[in-house]
Amino acid sequence: MYPRVGLGIAFLSILVVACSSRSHRTKVFNVKTYGATGNSRADMNSKAFLKAWTESCKWSGKSSVLIPKGTYHLGSIVLKGPCNGRKEFVIKGMLRSPNQPSTFFIDHWITFQNINNLRIHGGGTLDGQGASAWPYNKCKTGSCKPLPVITERSATVVFNYFKFWNDQQSLRLDFVNDSEISNIKSLNSKNFHFNLFACNRVNIRQVTLSAPADSPNTDGIHVSSSGNINIDKSVISTGDDCVSIGPGNRDIHITNTFCGPGHGISVGSMGKSGTKEDVTSISVVNCTFRGTLNGVQIKTWPEPTAAGGFASNFTYDNILMENVDNPIFINQQYCPFNLCNPQGSSKIQISNILFRNIWGTSTTKDAVKLKCSKSNPCHNIALENINLIGPGGVASSSCSNVHGRSLGRQKPPSCLS
Ligand SMILES: *[C@@H]1O[C@H](CO)[C@@H](O)[C@H](O)[C@H]1NC(C)=O
Ligand SMILES: *[C@@H]1O[C@H](CO)[C@@H](O)[C@H](O)[C@H]1NC(C)=O
Ligand SMILES: *[C@@H]1O[C@H](CO)[C@@H](O)[C@H](O)[C@H]1NC(C)=O
Repeated sequence: MYPRVGLGIAFLSILVVACSSRSHRTKVFNVKTYGATGNSRADMNSKAFLKAWTESCKWSGKSSVLIPKGTYHLGSIVLKGPCNGRKEFVIKGMLRSPNQPSTFFIDHWITFQNINNLRIHGGGTLDGQGASAWPYNKCKTGSCKPLPVITERSATVVFNYFKFWNDQQSLRLDFVNDSEISNIKSLNSKNFHFNLFACNRVNIRQVTLSAPADSPNTDGIHVSSSGNINIDKSVISTGDDCVSIGPGNRDIHITNTFCGPGHGISVGSMGKSGTKEDVTSISVVNCTFRGTLNGVQIKTWPEPTAAGGFASNFTYDNILMENVDNPIFINQQYCPFNLCNPQGSSKIQISNILFRNIWGTSTTKDAVKLKCSKSNPCHNIALENINLIGPGGVASSSCSNVHGRSLGRQKPPSCLS
């Protein structure tokens, strides 16, 4: 009796093992099989990448698109879902974006759209070749080079200053859930390095984003209308915000991340539009800022006709600032290029913000600036264990329209009671 039952169980186990190992195998779609080569033109490689993606996406079960080592010129592409099962995009090689202005009109280089369970990794690099595009980025200040529009028929060059400025982001995720980006590099993006829109439960870890300190609009990671996004163990050196958290976000957590050079980690800007904008449950923990314009910042426009909204429940904890211009900054008078009425008052309500264990050096005397809205003063702002040293050992804090408290050590002396 017993041996037979034992045999039956053994046979069953073999079946189970065989089936599970089969379902764990990843079917690989190598872009080279689809015609991608190091010597091919960008548009040829784009076709190959798209074909490999389409096949992988259709494959029922786990599959990956593989980009082996090597350099590949690649034009703008949109990789769309929904797909069947878990998908990987494994970048081992170097992808290089075009540097001809005629390709700059499109707002993305590589977009993933409408996908669940995607993993992008592989140790490779996205080279945005931004230097070719940065002269076209500064239109809002009126000092950009206009993009030439070559019409098909006459080849006449038409200039359109405001509509067609370069906003080409290197990696865009739109409507992507339950996914991960890890171990990849982004170099010299034309505009943002990464842009996440309407994404949920996405982990970004061990990514390295770099562009020169003076490259315009090269935000590291911009997130909007998204939830449950974690950014961990990353190094961001760029020309604009290392991370910018736009309207419509909740549960965005940034840990163990280095920022510098760059403009810091910012929430906003908010409060300029006619639709209600909220941001809630944000944390920045165990991070270092070196040589940045701002450290942790919340910025809202003094726009009294905006629909308003709230920014609440933020925690900034255990943060080292090294030579940062504005280490702690709430700015409800955010008004770049004077595009607002400076007498106006922001309609964004800021509340429940904790700044704890923040230490290091400030390059300006004003190490702590809490400039809140006259019509909507900040509530429940807490400063706890702050140790920031300004130039010559001197630093100060300034408060306007803030209600809150301070605890523990306060250097500079707190402007909160
Ligand atoms: C991702 O989640 C959002 C919100 O739950 C949902 O609207 C969207 O359709 C999801 N995306 C996909 C690809 O399923
Ligand atoms: C931050 O660092 C502290 C001390 O090293 C550690 O105990 C804590 O778990 C870290 N938190 C996160 C979210 O990584
Ligand atoms: C903010 O946190 C408080 C206390 O934890 C909680 O009651 C409240 O619902 C949170 N607000 C939002 C908008 O998540």
